[in-house]
Amino acid sequence: MKIYKARDYDHLSQIAANIIAAQITLKPESVLGLATGGTPVGTYKELIKKHKSGDLCFSEVKSINLDEYCTLAPESPQSYAYFMNDNLFNHVNIKAENVNIPSGLNLDADAECKRYDEVIKKNPIDLQLLGLGPNGHIGFNEPDAELKLGTNHVSLAQATIDANKRYFEREEDVPKTAYTMGMGSIMHSRKVLLIASGEGKAEILYKALKGPLTTQVPASLLQLHRDLIVVGDEGSLKFLVR
Ligand code: PGA
Repeated sequence: MKIYKARDYDHLSQIAANIIAAQITLKPESVLGLATGGTPVGTYKELIKKHKSGDLCFSEVKSINLDEYCTLAPESPQSYAYFMNDNLFNHVNIKAENVNIPSGLNLDADAECKRYDEVIKKNPIDLQLLGLGPNGHIGFNEPDAELKLGTNHVSLAQATIDANKRYFEREEDVPKTAYTMGMGSIMHSRKVLLIASGEGKAEILYKALKGPLTTQVPASLLQLHRDLIVVGDEGSLKFLVR
């Protein structure tokens, strides 16, 4: 595991974007596993800057997003498809046919999970970007007695609903279930880049990286990954790096 300590959120975003850009430069046809949430927004801004300045080309890149809310259409501003278009895809030259996100509109959960697992199998992930949930979730793999290897249909934890309700008008509008890439797919990614910002993440980041391996902190399984890179800022790393 390598841990990089950034000065602040902007610096964290630059470091994370540099790592992703290096991946694309070394392998233009990279498969990127991508994440939504507040933390990666700055990283995506930095990637867009690199693209606009002519330093980074996404024409052969494929993306596979971690998760999507069930019932939300891609046009819904709260959907993760919309988030990705708005925060990255609309601003770089990735091809629409190379973008993969679970379909929140497919209510046949078995079929959608199977379809997404096929996508991942055909396109092994070179670099998986991850944020860290307040409860230690990665993707929407929530703390539980068991975790799933493959794509699965999950009930969102109350901690996740609480954290994500800021994006919705009312708490009742937050979908209760989602599709998420499974832990096996995340762990099989060649490289994992975990980003966490702010003191609010300090305790859970410490538990994830130094605590016992437990399905109650899904991110703790990342300790087993061979090529885990963590980028945090002063706040999130306060119990880890001095
Ligand atoms: P955040 O979410 O980046 O908005 O903190 C992280 C997550 O829930 O995975």
